[in-house]
Amino acid sequence: MSFNYSERMNHISGSATREILKLTADPTIISFAGGLPAADCLPFDKVGEISDELLRGGRAEKILQYGITQGLPSAREAMIEYVKKAGVKNITLEQSIVLSGGQQGIDLMCKVFLSKGDTLLVENPTYLAVLPIAAAYEANVVGVNSGEDGLDIQDLEAKINEYKPKLLYVVPTFSNPTGRTYSLRNRIAIACLTAKHKLPVLEDDPYSKLRFEGEYVPALKSVDVGDNVVYLTSFSKIVSPGLRVAVAVGNKEIISKLEITKQGADVHTSHLSQAIVEEYLRAGYIDKQLKKITPIYKAKKDCMISAINKYMPEEFKYSEPQGGLFIWGALNADIDTEKLFPEAIARKVAYVYGNVFFADDSGHNTLRLNFSNATPERIDIGMHALGDLLKEKIKGDAR
Ligand SMILES: Cc1ncc(COP(=O)(O)O)c(C=O)c1O
Repeated sequence: MSFNYSERMNHISGSATREILKLTADPTIISFAGGLPAADCLPFDKVGEISDELLRGGRAEKILQYGITQGLPSAREAMIEYVKKAGVKNITLEQSIVLSGGQQGIDLMCKVFLSKGDTLLVENPTYLAVLPIAAAYEANVVGVNSGEDGLDIQDLEAKINEYKPKLLYVVPTFSNPTGRTYSLRNRIAIACLTAKHKLPVLEDDPYSKLRFEGEYVPALKSVDVGDNVVYLTSFSKIVSPGLRVAVAVGNKEIISKLEITKQGADVHTSHLSQAIVEEYLRAGYIDKQLKKITPIYKAKKDCMISAINKYMPEEFKYSEPQGGLFIWGALNADIDTEKLFPEAIARKVAYVYGNVFFADDSGHNTLRLNFSNATPERIDIGMHALGDLLKEKIKGDAR
């Protein structure tokens, strides 16, 4: 039996990563596809201790009861302290909202700003989950060119003038998928230009704490001159994605719109999860956790880079990230990484083909590799298999 679905469902196809992740649930496949933290980086003991204390202590009743949509005030206080470390200062309680993961922040910002036919500007390539979200609101997604330094400011201005966008979405630090970080100069230029055009910006920052080399760059929000930047940071990659906790801070009016839409979505984020993150922050565990996990991820990144140098064809061009979870690469223009994917799976290795990150269906010769989840041994084996496949392809094409 077929049902009569809403018109918007015609614009939403299954996310490519969902399909890829299904395939890679097979433990015999070495997956460089997802953005999952390593299992040995999840803080089982601390979260266990905190949960026990919370459920047996004086806050238990509040935690198991309904609460306000914006989130537990004490959790927001702790999170406001936490975002100061990214340079995001002078935030009041009413300028903050706890969300059920960064993904919800993206969804609600799109819901708040995008009507059918409105334009969302994104970096090209962008975090792939933004594309189906925008499609669900029947919005038009336009990619802005970018380079090592950040967004191409001239292109950004041209696209603001041409499309009159309602929202700009960016991941300025250790971007997903490119791993790149916008310079401070580029951030200032984005802040000034978007303020001039009164264009709201969603700065999505799940990765900046995972810096293993290079110099700290303050958040785009820290140079916000028009109060038009909403800063969103998630605890998924540094504490646990299963807890589903993120926080958004920014313009009071925008935060209150997010609150109204969140009310309809899930009433509020799980109190237990909020309180776990709050206590984790208050106890100072986050710094210890970062001290533990950043060297682990750096070692895995180094391991993947050395495997790239050992096994990948010289045509594979990549940029080495200073943090985050991903390496982004490109092959010769005639290699289609999506078409190649089933052959990679047959050789028991997975990646995310790059075209799914582009707003304009380009990037067919690109791919994203995640280094955080696999063990160093499996990184070596998987990259060997992938390198052999790509070399064979390139040789075959040259014949
Ligand atoms: C750039 C970016 N934003 C948001 C998310 C969603 O994360 P979560 O909803 O777990 O916070 C991810 C996850 O991979 C991401 O890479």
